Amino acid sequence: MYIAAEPFEEGDPDKGWHALTHEGFMSCGLPWALWSHDLAGSVAQGMLVGDAEVATLPGRTGNNQDLPHMLTAFTTTEGVDVVNVNCLQCHGGFFNGELVVGLGNATADFTGSAEEEAVASFEFDDEMLSSGTRPTDTTRNAMSGQEDRLDISTPA
Ligand code: HEC
Repeated sequence: MYIAAEPFEEGDPDKGWHALTHEGFMSCGLPWALWSHDLAGSVAQGMLVGDAEVATLPGRTGNNQDLPHMLTAFTTTEGVDVVNVNCLQCHGGFFNGELVVGLGNATADFTGSAEEEAVASFEFDDEMLSSGTRPTDTTRNAMSGQEDRLDISTPA
């Protein structure tokens, strides 16, 4: 028995490329204010990028221009500017040192906790250590209560 192929939907490669490199496929992310913050930004970068090999994608605009290829900055439906991983986290890989969009990423390691890796680069003070604060709590504490300083606006 012969099963005929399903017809492909007509697509627009330019729109597709723009969606792939500029639009969020998650509804949420880390606030852009946190990502771009002088001090807290390194924790955010540790969580989203870690020690992954990254490149910038030519032709990206706005906040995306200088971001690692596997991250996308976008505005949520509630109007919050955020940054999160995109499809290229897994569907982008390096061959001879060159980023190939669509190549499977053979180096991504999903066996650890990004949160704990971010904490590894974090300074603990004596009070945190003596109070027995766990590293994961410390990251959350470092990121909570910062709304005023980071100017993370809550949507109306
Ligand atoms: C966390 C890793 C990860 C992310 C992020 C990811 N994918 Fe995948 N994707 C995979 C893996 C692994 C497979 C292969 C699954 C399999 O073969 O069972 C796959 C398969 C696919 C396939 C099927 C390919 C084929 O040959 O049939 C498509 C299409 C695809 N992904 C598109 C996307 C798009 C679009 C996004 C972003 C919206 C995305 N993926 C994000 C890991 C990921």
